[in-house]
Amino acid sequence: MIVEDPIRSRHLVIGSGIAGLQFALLAAEDGSVRIVTKKNSQESSTNYAQGGIAAVLSPFDDFALHIQDTLAAGDGLCHEDVVRRMVESGPRLIQRLLSMGAEFQRDADRADAAFDLGREGGHSRRRILHSKDRTGHMLETALLERCHAHPAIAIDEDHLGVDLILGAEVGLAGADAGRVAGCWILDRRTQVRRPYLADSVVLATGGCGKVYSYTSNPDIATGDGLVMAYRAGARLANLEFVQFHPTCLFHPDAKSFLISEAVRGEGAHLVNRRGERFMSRYHPLAELAPRDAVARGIDTELKLSGDPCVYLDLRHLPRPAVESRFPNLVATCRRFGIDMAGEPVPVVPAAHYMCGGVVVDAEGRADLPGLYVIGESAFTGVHGANRLASNSLLEAVYLAEAAAQAARREPRVLSAAARLTPPADRLARRGGEPDVMILEHDWDDVRRVMWDYVGIVRDLGRLDVALARLRAIRNTVETAYASHQVVPGLVELRNIALLGELIVLCARSRHESRGLHYLRDFPRKADGLARDTLIARDLPAGGETARDFPDPAGGGA
Ligand code: FAD
Ligand code: SIN
Repeated sequence: MIVEDPIRSRHLVIGSGIAGLQFALLAAEDGSVRIVTKKNSQESSTNYAQGGIAAVLSPFDDFALHIQDTLAAGDGLCHEDVVRRMVESGPRLIQRLLSMGAEFQRDADRADAAFDLGREGGHSRRRILHSKDRTGHMLETALLERCHAHPAIAIDEDHLGVDLILGAEVGLAGADAGRVAGCWILDRRTQVRRPYLADSVVLATGGCGKVYSYTSNPDIATGDGLVMAYRAGARLANLEFVQFHPTCLFHPDAKSFLISEAVRGEGAHLVNRRGERFMSRYHPLAELAPRDAVARGIDTELKLSGDPCVYLDLRHLPRPAVESRFPNLVATCRRFGIDMAGEPVPVVPAAHYMCGGVVVDAEGRADLPGLYVIGESAFTGVHGANRLASNSLLEAVYLAEAAAQAARREPRVLSAAARLTPPADRLARRGGEPDVMILEHDWDDVRRVMWDYVGIVRDLGRLDVALARLRAIRNTVETAYASHQVVPGLVELRNIALLGELIVLCARSRHESRGLHYLRDFPRKADGLARDTLIARDLPAGGETARDFPDPAGGGA
């Protein structure tokens, strides 16, 4: 591997999902923006979002109801002030997306061409703007086109962010020594690594579904931003609240294929192998209960029956309506030999969304100066213990806007400073490439431990087993990382191994069941525990924090 000279820009954005792209388009008014993204620029969870984006646009809806639904799903942990600001910004943020080329489905039967609003679990009103069942693809395509056309925005594809660079490493002194000055970036195609420096460094790296064996997330979702921030010393919060989507397609050849919640919103039933609807046994809202309740209901049903899956049944819905509303789902199911409108569709829950993340303020600022975190990687407090469906895309554009406004005020420390010391190459290694087969086995081990021991229903004994196993794997991985060439598969493995451990530590420290965190030892919610779980490399153990923090080998950022 060769090290090249630093690349400098006013803003450095890591990730090209909805959060990173929306930030870039707004921040580009202030100066140059460099986006780095680890695969092709379209590849992101955003690109696969199906159901849509929630906003109050119907005359039968109002802000108070959207706020109330969000708080109810969040089970006592939502930060109400942030929820309120996000919900009230919704219509304006949608207008901006429209002005940037987004197109949402309109109701063909209405003379005023009002939006065709969908419904999803936990929403008391129809408020989901969608582009049939490919909303995310439409948004990603529209924003990417704008970014490609913008003269101040450059996008480096196949570039992987590895670790943050602090000011002291490039010769900054005083208060600037501790600011985040950039990121080490590895070109996946050439293996060239290079420091990228900027006045604001924005982590928009999305979620971490790949920590689990089964997930709706694409391969990019390895939580890189979360652990980069952790290693640099930022606080993370509420990692125990991993959302499992109730309905991913159960088929040996279908990798990570989601069957949107909008399908239940349009009336599909969840049935077991005997064809019985079961959700009313678990929640009064049955199939339209919030996601935590539906995923747990399915999990219980599967454990009781020993069956491998349950089914979504749409046979009572008119075939033309199903085919026109969900063309992508119908076509994909057909490829797997399933007639979505005409036979029960086998489904299982899978890891879907991280409700916790890097702690940020109202403007996306993390604990370290110069560092912003937006989108699914950020913890704003909006989602509490369980995210309401279709609030993620809304939160991403909400926070991207606030962060772009704040980042404009960052001092021009790195983009304008004439001379900076090139940072010491922390990724230099003597050894050769790691053994691919061992890498793959370690990947599987982490993901299987998380699936088996840190899933929808947890207990303290299993969490202890998970911790011991993850620590053993992580030690091996850190040794490999220190002694082999730094290649993308090893970087990501190192990240999921640490993140798995952090999730377990957060889960072990919450002695109650709330929202997505269900602990058999403490099956009820404890009023005294309505607070966030904080975790950080340098936090003193004790107080309200998860204890026993792992010290990431290799030290530093
Ligand atoms: P992403 O869109 O995931 O983008 C992350 C970006 O970071 C990618 O470009 C990735 O390549 C890049 N990246 C990651 N690590 C690195 C690194 N180390 N270096 C360089 N680049 C990196 N939410 C809703 O609100 N409504 C929905 O209908 C909906 N449906 C969903 C359906 C599916 C199948 C999935 C998986 C999620 C869905 N969600 C939905 C959740 C929502 O899509 C995501 O939370 C949201 O898109 C996250 O946006 P983001 O910009 O934060 O991250
Ligand atoms: C879905 O379409 O079911 C996903 C919606 C979401 O995750 O918000």
